[in-house]
Amino acid sequence: FPAGSRAHRGALLHFLDDPGNDPEPRDGSLEYVEDGLLILQNGRVVATGPAQELLPRMPEGTPVTHWQGGLILPGFIDTHVHMPQLGVMASYGAQLLDWLETYTFPHEARFSDGDWARAEALRFTDLLLAYGTTSGLVFCTSHAASVDALFEAAESRGMGLTAGKVMMDRNAPDNLTDTTRGSYDDSLALLQKWHGHGRQRYAITPRFAATSTPEQLTLAGKLAADHPDVMVQTHWAENTGEIQWISDLFPERHSYLDVYDHYGLLGDHTVLAHGIHIDDRDRQRLAETGTRIAFCPTSNTFLGSGLFDFRSAREAGVTVGLASDVGGGTSLSMLTTMAEAYKVCRLRGQTLTPWQAFYLATLGNARVLQQADQTGSFQPGRHADFVVLDEGTSPALTMKQPYSHTLAETLFNLMILGDDRAIAATVVAGEIRYQRPDSPTAPTP
Ligand code: GUN
Ligand code: ZN
Repeated sequence: FPAGSRAHRGALLHFLDDPGNDPEPRDGSLEYVEDGLLILQNGRVVATGPAQELLPRMPEGTPVTHWQGGLILPGFIDTHVHMPQLGVMASYGAQLLDWLETYTFPHEARFSDGDWARAEALRFTDLLLAYGTTSGLVFCTSHAASVDALFEAAESRGMGLTAGKVMMDRNAPDNLTDTTRGSYDDSLALLQKWHGHGRQRYAITPRFAATSTPEQLTLAGKLAADHPDVMVQTHWAENTGEIQWISDLFPERHSYLDVYDHYGLLGDHTVLAHGIHIDDRDRQRLAETGTRIAFCPTSNTFLGSGLFDFRSAREAGVTVGLASDVGGGTSLSMLTTMAEAYKVCRLRGQTLTPWQAFYLATLGNARVLQQADQTGSFQPGRHADFVVLDEGTSPALTMKQPYSHTLAETLFNLMILGDDRAIAATVVAGEIRYQRPDSPTAPTP
């Protein structure tokens, strides 16, 4: 191993491919090493394997951090989350359109203040890390400065995020709407500034069809066509009132999906949040174009939006990711998000195995964001972004531990009973960026 390597020791789990959604994971879809070593150099993964085998091959004096009792997984990835909506979480008693007008738009308007935006962006990135999330696809606000604030915060923590300026030139308060041309110019300037700047990537971000004029959607489509390696993110088919509104605004389009299709916004770099109230024709078009859905279960139950049909999407060949959708969502925790996804599946007579859930939150979401060559697994060359989970730091998990005997049971306990207390540490590009103060899994230098 190269000089200057470092190693982390603990139980290691990562996915190499989709494990499927049957009780047993597909052969070859994952690697699990009970006493494993993760070897890093310059913030990247060099190798993984059994500690007993690899330790003797390390150069003398290689620092090894031993996470005793910890389970090391690739850092969680959130495929849909709003940086400016931390303060919108837990807003009482409204469905989507009222929730936007009553709570969300007034809150996002505060981000015209650059100092506020910078403080919130730092708070947001630090919270992500405290929940074990190391990367994601993020909405900022319509203020260009909110995008600078987020990327600067991510950069200062070594994280790689994909994010964009919200484009919204109608049907919102004046202090939040942009102009058609201004939204294009700002988006292009931010894209040129941030896309590929270190680990940061830009995302073209029309909020949803209801808050963009046809002209703005046309320009968003032009940006996407001119920059095919840049992600596109928006909302789609979340709420029945929203869908009715879209059909009133775009009577010439045969469906909500057809609006985005018409403006050139579908493709394998596009992530549509929600996709609840959809049909087979929509699913077929998503599969055909490679367009992805971000399944946002805590948001969908909290806002009463509906139950996402995970099985139908999978069977149609649609790529689905898992997302918090904070502040519609009620937790930044991807563990909590997995639990809610499981419950949504159960309410639809479906299931979600722990294998599939942990795959989605790691490699699956990396694939959704077209970054699986950089993150989502411990294959050599990936960024060393990882999370150390520890049942010992969570009372509920500690209680359950003696009753669990298999890895599948441990993973299921973590997703159903776990929350931020199960996150012992979060490491980004090889640097420990978060560590639970009361963690018994103290790193031994
Ligand atoms: N649709 C348009 N904007 C939003 C938003 O901020 N959150 C959610 N959940 N749905 C939206
Ligand atoms: Zn959202």
